[in-house]
Amino acid sequence: MQLYTSSVAQTRQAGARLAKTAKAGDVYILDGDLGTGKTEFVRGFTDSLGGNATVRSPSFSILNIYQTGCIDVYHFDFYRLSDISELEELGFDDYIYGNGVCLIEWGSLFRDYLPPEARTIRFSDRGECQRVLDADFDF
Ligand SMILES: Nc1ncnc2c1ncn2[C@@H]1O[C@H](COP(=O)(O)OP(=O)(O)OP(=O)(O)O)[C@@H](O)[C@H]1O
Ligand SMILES: [Mg+2]
Repeated sequence: MQLYTSSVAQTRQAGARLAKTAKAGDVYILDGDLGTGKTEFVRGFTDSLGGNATVRSPSFSILNIYQTGCIDVYHFDFYRLSDISELEELGFDDYIYGNGVCLIEWGSLFRDYLPPEARTIRFSDRGECQRVLDADFDF
């Protein structure tokens, strides 16, 4: 499935759309270059579930956890991850096989450590405000 967005708001709406069908235990890989909208997508996803969590890029923390009015969101960013042991120290398996939804920016950098059934959305830039989201599933 392919989605075109021409504003930050539309990318957030796409995130909210995924949140309607996502279930506890789901793992989503968000791939694509820097600045293509992955974090904005997670913001739309999380905000649509209610609660007042503040979504921030986990590029330094590697993992941010948001409690929503519904399920927990485990927001990862693997961009700065150099070794899988850093994830193991975080108790990674507890999240991947846990009770929330995992949204993993740059997830393909460590694809082998993610469940085979994880779904992927690839973000790309088509100009200053245009983005394309290519998903290997429908949502
Ligand atoms: N259609 C759009 N959708 C999303 N973001 C857009 C769009 N048009 C412009 N932008 C801008 O692109 C940037 C997207 O930033 P964001 O942090 O979501 O990227 P990212 O993919 O998470 O990058 P990184 O890999 O560095 O974490 C923001 O500055 C935003 O204002
Ligand atoms: Mg980001």
